[in-house]
Amino acid sequence: MKSLLLRALLVLICVAGSVQVSAKNEKGLVGAIKVETPKRPKGQKDVLLLIAPKLDTVRVGFIGVGNRGISAVERWTKIPGAKITAICDLRPELVERAQNTVVKAGMPKAATYDTDENAWKQLCQRDDVDLVYIVTDWIPHAEMARFAMECGKHAVIEVPAAMSMDEIWMLIDTSEKTRKHCMMLENCIYDQFELTALNMTQKGLFGEILNVQGGYIHHLFDRNWPIGKRDWRITYNKLHRGDLYPTHGLGPICQLLNIHRGDRIKTLVSMDTKAVEGSLVWKAMGKADPENFKNGDHTMTFMRTEKGKSILIEHNVMTPRPYNRKYQLTGSRGYANKYPVEEFCFAKEVIANEPEFKGVKINEHDAIPEGIQKVLMEKYMHPIWKELQDVAKKVGGHGGMDYIMDYRLVYCLRNGLPLDMDVYDLAEWCCVVELSRLSIENGCAPVEVPDFTRGAWDKIEGYSHAMAE
Ligand SMILES: NC(=O)c1ccc[n+]([C@@H]2O[C@H](COP(=O)([O-])OP(=O)(O)OC[C@H]3O[C@@H](n4cnc5c(N)ncnc54)[C@H](O)[C@@H]3O)[C@@H](O)[C@H]2O)c1
Repeated sequence: MKSLLLRALLVLICVAGSVQVSAKNEKGLVGAIKVETPKRPKGQKDVLLLIAPKLDTVRVGFIGVGNRGISAVERWTKIPGAKITAICDLRPELVERAQNTVVKAGMPKAATYDTDENAWKQLCQRDDVDLVYIVTDWIPHAEMARFAMECGKHAVIEVPAAMSMDEIWMLIDTSEKTRKHCMMLENCIYDQFELTALNMTQKGLFGEILNVQGGYIHHLFDRNWPIGKRDWRITYNKLHRGDLYPTHGLGPICQLLNIHRGDRIKTLVSMDTKAVEGSLVWKAMGKADPENFKNGDHTMTFMRTEKGKSILIEHNVMTPRPYNRKYQLTGSRGYANKYPVEEFCFAKEVIANEPEFKGVKINEHDAIPEGIQKVLMEKYMHPIWKELQDVAKKVGGHGGMDYIMDYRLVYCLRNGLPLDMDVYDLAEWCCVVELSRLSIENGCAPVEVPDFTRGAWDKIEGYSHAMAE
């Protein structure tokens, strides 16, 4: 009887191009949904700690110089060792604006492309481009990066870099085949608080990290949303359930857990609310079919790792709420939280071990006093932030983290070092887009998260930033 109940029936369902396999027992209970892990093609190997030949100057070509792209162009005019050689956008006036930025900075004019929606291919084919920097809307990201790598260029892509499992595997395979870097431009890993907490984690202040949380709570759309303003984004929300923007939340917390550097995310479960505001915003825009607005106003995704850690991320771009990336970590000996107030809590011995606080009494159920927090934040400031903070704050971009992201990218390429984020980070942080939808659409069933390294997730011991001698 028992064996009868437990007997699993394999059900094959085709979903959006990738094969979904789920196990059902006789009670109709669905086990974890498995998604296909394509076999690594013969002759290909992983790109963990990938090193590419050093570049003296990093010559960059930008595709997409809209809202986010123009600020990247501005930053790149201030990065040592960088040269902007090509610019592409569908809108000639935006290309002109970016060209003016380059010229105003005293740099030579860049080649420009604005004739049609495939003009970016010519940019990728140029001999004077080493790196293609992709800042378009989400849909063309992965294909542009694939083509750029096939043209022999490194590819970096704004968030989220890939919107489906098929796109993710395509990027992994192309990076492994071409031995070109493929990195997602996840800037939040360079925020001052996140970097400091990472440094404290690596120095053992929190003990063993057990639970981490993150998210993207940003009221992007309201009922007075002007028609035509970034329509692509709300249109994507109209058509898809799930967490469509998981990477700002997941990036920094995956680094705390050493994901694919000793641990890996194994299972995920997602739940969403109904789409109240989404539907009303869509209606206010005069668009058809508002009752079928798919993306829930608030989506939550829970994950568990191979080593028994848990993760919670949230997504809400619809309801009025203060901006919040929900960054939080719980370790066996301490705790850190970023929003709405930055605070820490530590076991007594952690504070007692800091020579500055000998004799200071703290308890373990209150945040540490502000004075102690200030000293600790200063003492454990990440070396990268310490080195770059002055110029980063001056150049700007989300308080300086955008500049540090671009600076580190150029620094690693010039020194022939592995980048701070690899294509497997991209995969782990983006896979939530499709896998959360799969979970939600199947009654919030658990989904098995693939090992994107295909067997090498514990080859590297812990996350670290590469540094030149
Ligand atoms: N990391 C962050 O903090 C952050 C912040 C904002 C936006 N983003 C990301 O940046 C990306 C762009 O967002 P945005 O707000 O700048 O959007 P946007 O609409 O302002 O800009 C996108 C640009 O891409 C161009 N484009 C689209 N298809 C093209 C093609 N085939 N060839 C050439 N150009 C093309 C468009 O004309 C447009 O100018 C998105 O992925 C978004 O999620 C990231």
